[in-house]
Parts: sequence; C-alpha cells; structure tokens
Amino acid sequence: MIELTWPGKHPPTLPAPAVLRLESILHPQAEDPTLTSNLYQGDNLAVMAALLPEWENRVHLIYADPPFFTNRNFNARIGRGEDSRKPQNWRLATGYADAWDSLETYLQFLYDRLSLMHRLLAPTGTLYLHLDWHANAYARLLLDEIFGADRLLNEIIWTYHGPSPIRSAFNRKHDTLYVYTKSADYTFNADAVRIPYNVNTLKTFASTQKAGFGKTPNLERGKVPEDWWYFPVVARLHGERTGYPTQKPEALLERILLASSNPGEVVADFFSGSGTTALVAAQHGRRFLACDATFRAVNTLRARLARESYPAQISLWREAPKPERKAPPFSAQINAETVTLTGDTAALEFWEVDPDFNGEIFHSRAQAARPLRGDSLPLSLPLGEKKPARRVCLRAVTANEEEYQVILAG
Ligand SMILES: C[S@@+](CC[C@H](N)C(=O)[O-])C[C@H]1O[C@@H](n2cnc3c(N)ncnc32)[C@H](O)[C@@H]1O
Repeated sequence: MIELTWPGKHPPTLPAPAVLRLESILHPQAEDPTLTSNLYQGDNLAVMAALLPEWENRVHLIYADPPFFTNRNFNARIGRGEDSRKPQNWRLATGYADAWDSLETYLQFLYDRLSLMHRLLAPTGTLYLHLDWHANAYARLLLDEIFGADRLLNEIIWTYHGPSPIRSAFNRKHDTLYVYTKSADYTFNADAVRIPYNVNTLKTFASTQKAGFGKTPNLERGKVPEDWWYFPVVARLHGERTGYPTQKPEALLERILLASSNPGEVVADFFSGSGTTALVAAQHGRRFLACDATFRAVNTLRARLARESYPAQISLWREAPKPERKAPPFSAQINAETVTLTGDTAALEFWEVDPDFNGEIFHSRAQAARPLRGDSLPLSLPLGEKKPARRVCLRAVTANEEEYQVILAG
C-alpha cells in the first residue's frame, strides 16, 4: 500500500471524551422525536470521542469542511447593510483561525479527526471531505489509508467565480470534495438529484435518434449531475449570507444530502461553521449532529434556525465552562403573555425565552434573531400558556459574543 507519512506521524489520537453539559433545548415543545438533533460547542476531536458510545457506526452522512491550510485568520462580518464593495467599511469580529505551525501539525489534525469520523459512520455511510488546492492532495492519501483506496466514490469539483487579485496565475476558483463510502453498500439517490439536460442535448435528440449511441435517455426525467458542479459562492447570495467566514451555499449541501442520505437519517458536520449542513438537514427532514469550536459559529446556526422557524427539538451541549452571563443594558417586561424588551437593544443578534426556567437547563420556547438584511430585531416574544409562580428567563447574545440573562417573576 502507498501511505502518506510525515515527521512525527503517529496513530490517530483518541483523546479523553469531552465532558458535555446540556445547556439548552431549542423548541422543547416540538413533538416529532424523529427529528431531534444536537449541536455541540467544543473541540470536535474530544466531542467525537464523547459521541462514540452512542453514535459509533450510526451516522449516515458526514460532511467535513475543515480549515483548508490557508495559513490565514478569517474574520466574521457583523455589520448590516454595508456596501459589499467597500471592505474597509465592514464591521468585523474574530471568525476562526486557519493558521498552523507546520504542515505536519495540520496533517495529524486531519488524520485524527477523519479516523474518528470513519468510526462514527454507519456501514452504509458516506463522507464528503471539502478542501482546496492547499492540502487536498495529501488528504486524499489520508482517506485512502483510513477508508481504503477502493472506497473513493467521487472526486467532486465545485466551481464558482468572483473577483480575484491574482495576476500572475490563473484565478483559483474551484474546491475539491472527496467522497468516500464506508463499504460497497451505500446510499446514492440518483433520482433525487437529477438536473435538466443541456438545451443542446435536447436539440440534438430532437433532430436524430442516433445521438445517444443507440440509447435514448429519458430526457424529461433529467440527468444525474456530472462530478463537476457550479454553484455561486455565498458572497453572491444575499439571502443566505450570515457574515460567517467561508460559509458554503445551501445548494451545495442540498445536493450532497439528497444524494447520500434519506429522510429521518442522521447527518453530521463537525466543522459546522455557520451551520449550513444542519440547516439544510433540517429543511429536508434529516436529523443532525453539528459541532464547532466557537460560540460565534454555534450562535450563528441558532439564529439561522430561529429565522426559519424550524420546528424540531435541538439540544445545545457545551464543553466549555458555563459562560459568564451579564446583566443587560436593556430591560424586559411581561405584559399579556408576552415579554417585551425596551432600552438599548442595538447590539443584540439573538434572544430567546424560557417561560418556566428550572435554573439548570434552558428550555427555549421562543426565539428572535436579527434578520440578515435590515436591522429590525423582533422585540416581543410570546410566553405561551400562563402558569402560576413561574420564573421567566430570557437570554440574549450580541454580535460581540456577550451573553445576557434576565430572570423575571411571571
Ligand atoms: C471552513 S469553516 C466551515 C464553514 C461551514 N461549512 C459553513 O457553511 O459555514 C471551518 C469551521 O471549523 C471550525 N473548527 C476548526 N477547528 C475545529 C475543531 N478542532 N473543532 C471544532 N470546530 C473546529 C471553525 O471554527 C470553523 O467554523
């Protein structure tokens, strides 16, 4: 076997499992248990180690979009309504780091994590690893080692376009996704991802039946896409852009999910970022396990789910110690089964209400997120059915990652 090696390479590390604390449950009132999902904040290696007892051999699809070894730090855009063509005016905050002391460190990082993903995958499961020219050549050899070279199903090229400062080489406008299956028995729903034939193909078949080497395809049904895909990048998709760096388009994840998973199955993304995989999984009736190391990422996903009014239960687990929640600069009042914020709410991105807080786990029954375009954060949320002597708790998050908590007598 050909194997990639590097100074200091060692067998995949299995760290001590993360100690995960259930912090809140989004939509505890949701009734469909087949859609319950989990969101984790922590280092994905320790989180995956913690998931092994419950999830080993049970995850149907994993999409992995790790840092690409660009040796850059990525900022998040937190302003609203700024001119996209004037980056000097954008309001920025820390996004995530893709800076490494060496290629060896990066390769061991990937090797450890891809090995655990392989263990979590169901026997019929599929992994998509998304990278670009910086490290994809190495990663393919890692995947050959972990999955077996004969388990490579596809090398997908995702092409896009956009401005580029490069004048000394061709513009680098594609990413590579390696698709590996755990066994020869895997899910591939060809009919779920068909696309229309090219107009020229349709014209050719209309003029001669011989065009398909004796076979006439079912032109109305459409074709299974090639292994190169064009989808616009999120910078061009104003309705999707959360400001989180390197966010991937929903259409890309939609094709992956529809092809390689079925409704009710579990889809995981341990480099979840803004949560595109989880969001698309939710939209298509899949359950998800999503993990990211940063609170910004986790919160970006919670806000996206709140904007979509996604109706299933989602448990939020955190590895980190309990956050310090401050008294806010705004005040809250209860009035006719509604809680309303007044005062300085300008910095808020997301807030949520537990109408009967038990002091431990926050049951988030209603949420409001600042819209992606415009500035109008909803300032009232319903409390639901009235209960005697309840403790109403509300939590809020700002774009600068401050967390507030207020407890009111109901
Ligand atoms: C390329 S971005 C993912 C973008 C995502 N696919 C989206 O559509 O928004 C990589 C993400 O991996 C996260 N990350 C990096 N190292 C991690 C680790 N060890 N554990 C968990 N998350 C990590 C970063 O915080 C970042 O959000």
